[in-house]
Amino acid sequence: MKRIYLSSVVVFLTITFTLSCASKTTPTSTPSTDVSVVSKPVISEAAILAGHQLFDQNCSKCHRLFSPTEFNGKRWVRIIDEMAPRARLNAEDKSKVLAFVLSNAKK
Ligand code: HEC
Repeated sequence: MKRIYLSSVVVFLTITFTLSCASKTTPTSTPSTDVSVVSKPVISEAAILAGHQLFDQNCSKCHRLFSPTEFNGKRWVRIIDEMAPRARLNAEDKSKVLAFVLSNAKK
């Protein structure tokens, strides 16, 4: 069950990032020494950084700023689904915030 869930998160992220990166392909300094990196969509450091900023700016308006480490990935996927509309995040920003919290989520 956990494994199924984790792979669906990976698939979800892969899809959202593929979609969100498709329109503006300017990979800012991707240190790709490994050719296999190119064929595998990765969650970029830039997306996580942007997600961190969006999180700080938009997620403490109604309550304290929660720490990503307070919840595991499964909880965060549900929380962000619920909170993104409240914070009026568009799909791209939502996926960045999700990338940020998941990269720091409780294991
Ligand atoms: C418009 C107000 C509003 C904004 C903006 C908002 N939240 Fe919330 N959030 C709430 C309310 C209300 C609750 C508590 C009630 C609930 O869970 O529905 C809550 C609860 C939470 C919880 C606790 C969930 C739990 O199960 O204990 C987390 C974590 C959270 N929000 C994260 C976020 C994040 C991340 C963002 C930014 C993307 C965000 N919130 C933006 C209103 C908001």
